Amino acid sequence: MSSSFAEQVVVVSGAAGGVGREVVMKLLEHGARICATDITSSVQDLENLAPGRIVAVAADVTRSDDVERIFNRAEDAFGPVDILVNNAGFIISKSVHDTSEEEWDSVMNANAKAFFLMARRALPSMIERQSGSIVATGSISSVVGLPEQAAYCAAKGALLQLVRQMAVDYAPKGIRVNAVGAGSINTPFLTRYLDGLENPKAGEAAIKSAHPLGRWAEPSEIADAIIYLAGSSASFVTGHILMADGGYSAR
Ligand SMILES: NC(=O)c1ccc[n+]([C@@H]2O[C@H](COP(=O)([O-])OP(=O)(O)OC[C@H]3O[C@@H](n4cnc5c(N)ncnc54)[C@H](O)[C@@H]3O)[C@@H](O)[C@H]2O)c1
Repeated sequence: MSSSFAEQVVVVSGAAGGVGREVVMKLLEHGARICATDITSSVQDLENLAPGRIVAVAADVTRSDDVERIFNRAEDAFGPVDILVNNAGFIISKSVHDTSEEEWDSVMNANAKAFFLMARRALPSMIERQSGSIVATGSISSVVGLPEQAAYCAAKGALLQLVRQMAVDYAPKGIRVNAVGAGSINTPFLTRYLDGLENPKAGEAAIKSAHPLGRWAEPSEIADAIIYLAGSSASFVTGHILMADGGYSAR
């Protein structure tokens, strides 16, 4: 059974990126009304996908005033927000001894603090209506330590713990909170990572072979997992991380 999102109001962050854009496209197919947001101004182009059913906001989700602006726009256009897809994120690949304080803060802010800010703004109207669903894009880095991903592992681990904590706090209010634990995904995020390596081809082969399925994910495969958790098909699922990682964490 697939969920219906007809008339549901969804905020999607990181919507100009590989996974976020796929989430937006699939939710539109399922009838949702969407507020798509990203720090990149190209997010505005998404409004052309379905005029009247999608609004776009260029905003930095690490700033509470920008988060306020995102939700105000969503509510003005469509009414109270039913679903939050907290998907924005980025990585700086360094070990602790190489990571500057600014780099640490920027990764923690984009992946962990932003989730707190977005959820904090989404929750009051969900609590009032005793209904809501929140999905965060986590990573294999939420559950295992990966080389040279100090701040990113810490941030995605914090994101997962906040998922679990909020699931417990808000289950009595009818609100579910879940995460997707993504393996490597074929998006600009991964391209930037590979470009930073001495030998990108060797890096690509190593990444693929680290996933038992022998490849990385396409963004639509991660979007499908997000949409499953977001919708009514997952009505008894909360506090869960769905590993969409090609078997990476099963080894
Ligand atoms: N690509 C991978 O291999 C991979 C693996 C595991 C998890 N993830 C996670 O998947 C999610 C989606 O990433 P993607 O692969 O689509 O990468 P992407 O770079 O294509 O998309 C991420 C988007 O987040 C936006 N963003 C970053 N910081 C922001 C901020 N402060 N405010 C607003 N927007 C901001 C970026 O502009 C970008 O459009 C991220 O949370 C990422 O950490 C990615």
